[in-house]
Amino acid sequence: MKSVAVLGAGTMGHGIAEISAIAGYQVVVTDVEQRFLDAASERITWSVKKLAEKGQVKEPVDVVLSRIRFTLNTQEAVREADVVIEATPEDLDLKRNVLSQVAKYAKSSAILATNTSSLPITELATALPDKSRLVGLHFFNPPVIMSLVEVIRGADTSQSTLDAGMTFVRKLGKRVVLVHKDIPGFIVNRIMARIMATACLFVQLQLASIVQVDASLKYRAGLPMGAFELADYVGLDVLLNVERALSERGFDIEPSPLLEQKVKERSLGVKAGAGFYRYSAAEPKARVPAEEADKVNFVDLLSPAVNEAARLVQDGISSERDIDTAVVLGLGFPRGLLEMADSWGIDAVVTSLKSLQVVMGKDWMAPCKYLEDLMAQGRLGRKSGRGFYEYSSHDNDRWETVGLEKRGPVAYVSLNRPERLNAINEKMLGELDSVMTTLERDGSVRVVVIRGEGKAFCSGFDLSYFMVGPSPHEVMDLVSRFQRLNRKIESLAKPVVASIHGYCLGGGFELALSCDFRLAERSAILGQPEINLGLIPGAGGTQRITRLAGPAKARKLVFFGDRISASDAERMGLVDGVYDDGKLEEGVQAFAAALSERPPLALAAAKRAINASMFPMDAGLDLESTAFSMLFSTEDAREGLSAFSEKRKPKFIGK
Ligand SMILES: NC(=O)c1ccc[n+]([C@@H]2O[C@H](COP(=O)([O-])OP(=O)(O)OC[C@H]3O[C@@H](n4cnc5c(N)ncnc54)[C@H](O)[C@@H]3O)[C@@H](O)[C@H]2O)c1
Repeated sequence: MKSVAVLGAGTMGHGIAEISAIAGYQVVVTDVEQRFLDAASERITWSVKKLAEKGQVKEPVDVVLSRIRFTLNTQEAVREADVVIEATPEDLDLKRNVLSQVAKYAKSSAILATNTSSLPITELATALPDKSRLVGLHFFNPPVIMSLVEVIRGADTSQSTLDAGMTFVRKLGKRVVLVHKDIPGFIVNRIMARIMATACLFVQLQLASIVQVDASLKYRAGLPMGAFELADYVGLDVLLNVERALSERGFDIEPSPLLEQKVKERSLGVKAGAGFYRYSAAEPKARVPAEEADKVNFVDLLSPAVNEAARLVQDGISSERDIDTAVVLGLGFPRGLLEMADSWGIDAVVTSLKSLQVVMGKDWMAPCKYLEDLMAQGRLGRKSGRGFYEYSSHDNDRWETVGLEKRGPVAYVSLNRPERLNAINEKMLGELDSVMTTLERDGSVRVVVIRGEGKAFCSGFDLSYFMVGPSPHEVMDLVSRFQRLNRKIESLAKPVVASIHGYCLGGGFELALSCDFRLAERSAILGQPEINLGLIPGAGGTQRITRLAGPAKARKLVFFGDRISASDAERMGLVDGVYDDGKLEEGVQAFAAALSERPPLALAAAKRAINASMFPMDAGLDLESTAFSMLFSTEDAREGLSAFSEKRKPKFIGK
């Protein structure tokens, strides 16, 4: 497959064209008027340039852009294409029309795909002489950023079409989630509709307020946004249309009167300046106070969505893993929904559903057979060793946020919250501590490597902890735990190597600084940005940077909070080796292998002796953690954190 035709140059079409060109395909884009093609060309050029500035495209901008052609002639657009994707407006007759044209002119070997969000693939396929050629490829908006694609098998889609569709999506660097049957809303929209419908029912029945629902979802379940906040962001008219489309196609859900009312008032969300919340230049984001988080139980808010996900597995529509991937990548959940349900307990989910059904009277709240079966088999989740997933007593299953893999004498510890760029939370602190204890005792391990899953080493401590408003005493306790962890790594009787790619900031940098060596990929970005929040590093940064780079450089890094490149960090003595992108893993392996051949007892002794040669650290660390906790109670820190979450520049007043 070498060439792609995209029909419809709008929101989705231009993005799909762009990622196809970046992946090396020759692309032809078509639309009904030249002005739509011109607008798409402008948007694509702007976006590819932005990606290039961030180092996210490997080729020169011109080379990528030269692969995209625009035409008003559909016949010419599809003639040479190996993949044809229609991204025209969500109208059954229009799409059927477009597809029947495509079938006339496209090569017989080409696969045909539709990006529809709500129309049945099976019904669209009847426009084609050969119905087996159509597959659903549901990209998410914006395709350049969202890495998920739901691949949908229509009733007549052939296996070879499905396979070719998946291969294409993977070549674009996107993650495939397979939807085995053509059901309304596929996976993500169905689950989102259940969450939204449940949230609306809580408010309609006056069981909770809008902010109480959102605060619970945000600060207790850890979702990136509350349901109403997300609805405002998506657009209430868009959401209502999705609910209506799903309901018309037989999904058991009624469009919510709360949503209908808002749409009638034209309060359509962020784009209209008002929806469930009000928006202005001064307050561009919804204000969801953390103090409201405990007024409603987040398990009650999410159990109907868990029920829906369980039903999808029960009916053979998707797998547990794919559903979890879909909510993480499509909705930004911190973890999979079913994985979360296993942590809360399947019994807690079922009890919640049963009581909700009594109060709210909805059939879709009755626990599905799969959940009842799990209960009957005593598969209650993590606590019983089995739920949706299996958990053994094996080490690796003890930890959720950290992974451990032993390759001969080298143990690889992975920070495993990739959806949060491995931001460290309380759980990760505890689990890292436990992993270090395990490794200390494991005589077969001679060298430890700490690395990050996904796009980064670690973006820092998870700021959502501070948003909930802990007391200075709680903050003090937390930073002391973090400092103890770093001390443990520093004094572990084996060498520890940090393997750094992507962001290595704040607490992540402090974790790396407590390792014996830091090896980094050239594009890695390091720094201590706490000052921008009205804070200072609290997990040893002030002490360890000073030791490694000297006080002048420490002042520069900590006072300005600037981010530095791997090469700058190397020049400052903060990084011990820089590898070209793509070569880090190999470099770290060779480095760790060489260390593992040295005598372990001598290495341990050398580490202890070298550490002892430096001035005592504990007094400095005490001072640092006290200062950090004190600063946390200042107005400046509150302003810094609010400004960070609202993506604006903070105004510090010195109080
Ligand atoms: N916008 C989203 O968030 C989103 C997300 C996932 C899927 N989708 C789906 O993607 C599809 C496109 O949505 P969109 O948001 O990009 O719509 P859009 O309105 O932004 O773009 C559609 C484009 O198709 C063009 N068009 C109309 N008739 C055409 C024809 N006969 N031939 C070629 N082009 C034609 C229109 O002029 C327009 O430029 C829809 O099926 C939608 O459900 C949208």
